[in-house]
Amino acid sequence: MTADAGTRPVVARTRAELRDALVGTPGPRGFVPTMGALHDGHVSLLRRARDENATVVMSIFVNPTQFEDATDLAAYPRDLAADLDRARDAGVDVAFVPDVEAVYPHGSSTTIDPGAIARVLEGASRPGHFSGVATVVAILLGLVAPHRAYFGEKDAQQLVIVRRIVRDLALPGEIVGCPTVREPDGLAMSSRNARLAPADRAAATVLHRALLAARDLHGSGTTEADALRAAMRAVVAAEARARLDYASVADPEILEEAQGPQVGPLLLSLAADVGGVRLIDAETIGRP
Ligand code: PAJ
Repeated sequence: MTADAGTRPVVARTRAELRDALVGTPGPRGFVPTMGALHDGHVSLLRRARDENATVVMSIFVNPTQFEDATDLAAYPRDLAADLDRARDAGVDVAFVPDVEAVYPHGSSTTIDPGAIARVLEGASRPGHFSGVATVVAILLGLVAPHRAYFGEKDAQQLVIVRRIVRDLALPGEIVGCPTVREPDGLAMSSRNARLAPADRAAATVLHRALLAARDLHGSGTTEADALRAAMRAVVAAEARARLDYASVADPEILEEAQGPQVGPLLLSLAADVGGVRLIDAETIGRP
């Protein structure tokens, strides 16, 4: 803990306040963008940023442009006091907590289209979602100007897209991917898990079980992409409370579905509805 752990983080609510809060802070600067409702998955990113940087900045902003559905946006959990407590415990120096106007000043009209990688997988059922994510991440990187920015591997497609826009648009910061933090039974931590009814909570481990089945099959020498997809599908099909959206075995950079026998790394990902809650999970296998 830092000496002033009792008062940190400094909370900045406008672009000007953020600029003032950052003046004179020592580098390197690490940045963790979030939508709040912080859980141990978010905290792992904050701690990694704390370990690797002299100054840690986070943002808490429920970005309206990445929600298709007004009900989903309205239902998003918000608890700023609890979030700031967790931020302080993790050693965050500056929390940027803007309102919509501070992120999208009146008249703002520029959006980013990440291209084909934004239209597959999650993007296929959530049109516009990744344009919203890409645009807000670009704005936040521009405002914070970090040396490093930290993203979770659970949201695998988001991480691929963020890496791509940073490269394509020469945005500041090295993008650091961080491992998925899981509940003891394997369920990936997510603010959505709180919406699961008890019976659905147990069934929700099906996503991780499906990834493990495909990973084990791959480990035992099966490299056919179709066989790996079928292994994931079979696990989800056996769980009556889950309805599969997609099970994907794809190239980890261009997100194109893999066909035939595979030698390089593969991104396994899937989405399923469990009791009305849409869950996602992902894992990269075959890394050298
Ligand atoms: P949010 O869902 O709040 O997630 C913030 C960051 O925490 C993301 O990088 C996400 O991948 C990571 N994260 C979430 N659950 C995790 C887990 N179980 N283990 C490890 N990391 C986890 O993702 C967003 O917000 C937004 O799209 C954002 C990037 C902030 C843009 O609005």
